[in-house]
Amino acid sequence: MDDGSSLREAAEIIQKSNFLIALTGAGISVESGIPDFRSAGGLWEKYDPAIYAHIDSFRRDPEMIWEMLFEMISLTKNVKPNPAHVALAALEKKNILKGVVTQNIDNLHQEAGSVNVIEFHGNAHHLECLSCQHEEEVGDPDFGGKPPRCPRCKEILKPKVVFFGEMIPQAALMESTMLAHSADAVLVVGTSAVVYPASGIPYIAKQNHARVIEMNLEHTGLTGSITDVFIQGKVGETLPKLLKLIES
Ligand code: APR
Repeated sequence: MDDGSSLREAAEIIQKSNFLIALTGAGISVESGIPDFRSAGGLWEKYDPAIYAHIDSFRRDPEMIWEMLFEMISLTKNVKPNPAHVALAALEKKNILKGVVTQNIDNLHQEAGSVNVIEFHGNAHHLECLSCQHEEEVGDPDFGGKPPRCPRCKEILKPKVVFFGEMIPQAALMESTMLAHSADAVLVVGTSAVVYPASGIPYIAKQNHARVIEMNLEHTGLTGSITDVFIQGKVGETLPKLLKLIES
């Protein structure tokens, strides 16, 4: 648990910053009730991502992948933003935080009031057809228990989220890279930072001499290298504390 000195140091960096950005991962939504991927009990403990989260597997056997997707979607049903999402939205409202690059597909940053949210891995609320490019919003979140089909060509639809083996949406990549190049401070919140190119965002900012503040339950590959301040703890608790110090 943080002894308070890292929080104070982080607050000082942010108060002096002119262009703070945030990179968030599944850890920020755990206190909303959505398990993350790689901690004990996470989704990838049950489903091997190399199989279940790869685009080639979806093309080969979409029904099998929808088994995992139904479970992932059920985990994100009836969840609400937690104080960590709310704290980031408050920092944006104060024009301190300029944007959030999120790896999450749960829409909780937007529901907490964040406006400039770049969804690096897409959003589970949209569906796309890989064969005729039809797109639609998710209607019934249960899909009637069956994989949704394209109204035009009857193929099984895919959530508009980035699978391994797929490109990051061009606009998201461009916008987040521009944010990283402009940043003089980066909040890295609740991510294991093992998936590239999202994990490259703090490195780009660091190349421009940005200060990196990491908030996580445990150290990651960033902690021993580019992180300037590490704040250990549950972000649902540490982020509101950080916001209070910044406001004081
Ligand atoms: N407070 C702070 N950190 C937390 C909390 C919490 N309450 N709960 C979990 N964490 C941390 C974990 O310690 C871990 O470092 O959040 C991180 C979650 O890491 P992952 O489960 O790997 O999630 P993420 O980093 O978002 O994964 C990146 O991998 O599978 C792909 O597309 C998927 O977007 C995802 C990407």
